[in-house]
Amino acid sequence: MDVTELLTAQHRQVDALFERYATAADTDAKAAIAREIVTLLAKHSAVEEIEVYPAIGEVVGTATEEVLNEQHMHLKRILADVEHCAGGDERMDQLVGDARAAVRAHVAVEENEVFAAFRAQVDDVTLRELARKVEDRWDRAPTHPHPNQPPANRVTGPVVGLVDRARDAFRREERSSS
Ligand SMILES: [Fe+2]
Repeated sequence: MDVTELLTAQHRQVDALFERYATAADTDAKAAIAREIVTLLAKHSAVEEIEVYPAIGEVVGTATEEVLNEQHMHLKRILADVEHCAGGDERMDQLVGDARAAVRAHVAVEENEVFAAFRAQVDDVTLRELARKVEDRWDRAPTHPHPNQPPANRVTGPVVGLVDRARDAFRREERSSS
């Protein structure tokens, strides 16, 4: 699998989660799906920023890389708000809707323009190698959005990922003991 196929498959996974959210039966189910959406998008954004965007910057151009990072920043701000009302708050429907719109716009740019331009200029071996790097990075990627930090990179990504997972473990414990 090449990296653009892998990332496109992740986009479809996110679409499916948004669809499940839209048809969820109650606020508890919605809150659980919203958490899944936040985690998946936080990880997806981080692996793109760390492993893929620098390569896109080199090949397609740094202006494109900047646009993609700005779109991520906008999305992460919304995701941080979603996280803060993940207890079934009535604002959640609105925020999840905003996140869906931001994802749709970002995915359109990536899938219709950037990935095609990137694939046209990079050989298959490199595309497969990048996919392997994304997969390797996945389990160490941050699980929460960090809108106040610059795009994740190879130095900060693993550290932030470690802190996020400690936070996740603590919250799981809290939920199971309440
Ligand atoms: Fe993406």
